[in-house]
Amino acid sequence: MNNSPVVFHYPGEDKLQETFANLGDFETGSCTFHEFPDGESYVRIESEVRDRELILFCSLHHPNDKFLAIHFFAKQAKEMGARKITLIAGYLAYMRQDKRFHPGECITSEHFAKLLSGSVDRLITVDPHLHRRKSMDEIYSIPTTLVHAAPNIAEFIKRNIQNPLLIGPDGESEQWVSEVAHLANVPYQVLLKERLGDRDVKVTLPDVENYQDSTPVLVDDIISTGKTMIETILHLKNLLKVKPVCIGVHAVFADKALSDMQNAGAGRIISCNTIPHSTNEIDLAEALLNAYQS
Ligand code: R5P
Repeated sequence: MNNSPVVFHYPGEDKLQETFANLGDFETGSCTFHEFPDGESYVRIESEVRDRELILFCSLHHPNDKFLAIHFFAKQAKEMGARKITLIAGYLAYMRQDKRFHPGECITSEHFAKLLSGSVDRLITVDPHLHRRKSMDEIYSIPTTLVHAAPNIAEFIKRNIQNPLLIGPDGESEQWVSEVAHLANVPYQVLLKERLGDRDVKVTLPDVENYQDSTPVLVDDIISTGKTMIETILHLKNLLKVKPVCIGVHAVFADKALSDMQNAGAGRIISCNTIPHSTNEIDLAEALLNAYQS
């Protein structure tokens, strides 16, 4: 009897799931996720899962619908006798609202963590936005394993970018940019960002006079509206000769973020494959496998 874990994916996540599954001893499961015209979710697990460990690949960008699909999958799997369900969510949503910035605001990161902890048995994710929190255990009651994209990003930079100067668009990005710079053995600078509204960000001028011939490489964890990157690109435009390479761990790319960044003067735009996107050039399947096996 085959006892290897059975791997499933939410629609659109087949590529990462397949690369991951080919690296180890896994069976590929079959599940139908469907959305009815009225927006309700339908889930049907077609594989035998009794006494098996299951892995579900479902990155949590656009999390509201996906959360219910994950919840229904997990509950159904348990009713069919599955032993353990691990969610591999390359991108973990609801990590940024980690405090009450204004009276009456819901601290969604805490409540989302409780919901997800009530659905699956284990969570593996990549560089969650742990800004004010030190550990996932502060909000998640299930075991969580974190993958850091920094080694893969550093390797990519070493192999592909000549004379790089790493630039973090804001103070929050320092944790990623400094680690990547250290691993790639290249210099870095961090800018200061002031958020004036959802779609309005102001970035201070960096001290780049000493790096005229460098290739600026902007590194951030999330590219969402692209505004943080765009402000930085616009500031660098008249200061450095080379178009900046933009690297985001998580390619959220809301609305026209990608074309807005290109129009603003971005050079190459690159992301890790935590969210399926045309910019995915940095593969984290092996890092996720190591995390699963840890
Ligand atoms: C902010 O705290 C994050 O680290 C990113 O800088 C931010 O999410 C990027 O968002 P946007 O692309 O909308 O500027």
